[in-house]
Amino acid sequence: MAAILLICVPLIPGAIITVQKIAKKILSKYWGQYTKLGSTFLENLQGMTTLKTYQADGYKNEEMNRESEHFRKVTMAVLTMQLNSVTIMDFVAYGGAALGILLATKTFVDGNIGLANCIFMILLSADFFLPMRRLGSYFHVAMNGMAASDKIFKFLNEDEPDEKAETVSGGEIALKDACFSFTEDRVILHNVSIIIPKNGFVGIVGESGSGKSTIASLIMGRNTVGSGSLTIDGKEINTTSEQSLMKAITYIGFGSVFFKGTVRENLLFADKKADDKKLWQVLDDCQLSDFLKAENGLDTELLENAGNLSGGQKQRLALARAILHDSPAYIFDEATSNIDIESEEAILSQIHSLKKRKTVIMISHRMANMVDADMVYVIDGGKVAERNAYRAAE
Ligand SMILES: Nc1ncnc2c1ncn2[C@@H]1O[C@H](COP(=O)(O)OP(=O)(O)O)[C@@H](O)[C@H]1O
Ligand SMILES: [Mg+2]
Repeated sequence: MAAILLICVPLIPGAIITVQKIAKKILSKYWGQYTKLGSTFLENLQGMTTLKTYQADGYKNEEMNRESEHFRKVTMAVLTMQLNSVTIMDFVAYGGAALGILLATKTFVDGNIGLANCIFMILLSADFFLPMRRLGSYFHVAMNGMAASDKIFKFLNEDEPDEKAETVSGGEIALKDACFSFTEDRVILHNVSIIIPKNGFVGIVGESGSGKSTIASLIMGRNTVGSGSLTIDGKEINTTSEQSLMKAITYIGFGSVFFKGTVRENLLFADKKADDKKLWQVLDDCQLSDFLKAENGLDTELLENAGNLSGGQKQRLALARAILHDSPAYIFDEATSNIDIESEEAILSQIHSLKKRKTVIMISHRMANMVDADMVYVIDGGKVAERNAYRAAE
């Protein structure tokens, strides 16, 4: 009887090991589908207004239904796999126990053991498999957790860039024969050379898609130059610390983000020490003070991403925040696009007053915004097509 019990018991871990191989594949598919469904859901929710505008919500609804159905199937596959493995383990555990009980009873009936011994062996058979069986159940929970943590650890194990030692103070920015591509099959920037002297005002113009924002992303350290070089203060950008780079250059695009909270809170991000007087001064410069005084002043509450401001007001607030940052250099990337003429004029006039004491890079598809630039670079198809020195020409 002992031999039979001992032979049966390793069948349970054996079943676990067999199931583990299949389970790993199914569970990784399950978690993959789970996160995919989650991100589709979030994207559709955030884009609901757009979907309604184009009456595409029905189409997206069907798409989500298909994905949900797929997820249901994967979930069912996981459950089936677990149920099957539980059945096998139960079969071994209870079958083995039954076999032990039968043997004990038979031996007793044959008169080979006494009653006390028989009862002892019956109880033993029943209990013998339980710990192993419980281990099997825990194993299922653990496998699920391991499949989920695989994804988390993969993310956590991504290399973090080393903290760079060099610091920059926002002097000359120089791109020399810089090339860049997002993907191997398409080069976005070809041998771009642009020099932005300290306290200079340089314009970059070009058609949409010509590579202007890509140049800005290189200067902000968001992308890395392929061949060629990009230096700030004469130091290669990939040797400089991100922190000092962020202190040296402020980027203002057209989709500035604000946080739920008061105007004051949103402005203090840029300069923690600024007092109300300074905040009002900057808001006044950006022609926002009249509007805010009519509201609740610096305590005016902003909705999520400043949903209660107009596009122009939002952009003026973004400018106010950028001015408070007081960095030596600024990049305005289409900062006056798609806003009302009044806001555009307010912003342009601020940029022009900034340029007297700051390095300013002004990116625009409109040549008209570049009148006062020291130098204008025209970008076409990722190349510098023209360089015009306005002041020199005068
Ligand atoms: N993240 C990206 N991945 C791949 N291609 C991109 C990416 N961002 C921009 N591009 C491509 O790079 C080119 C230049 O884009 P961009 O610099 O944004 O142009 P713009 O001059 O309008 O600012 C475009 O053709 C665009 O398709
Ligand atoms: Mg752009």
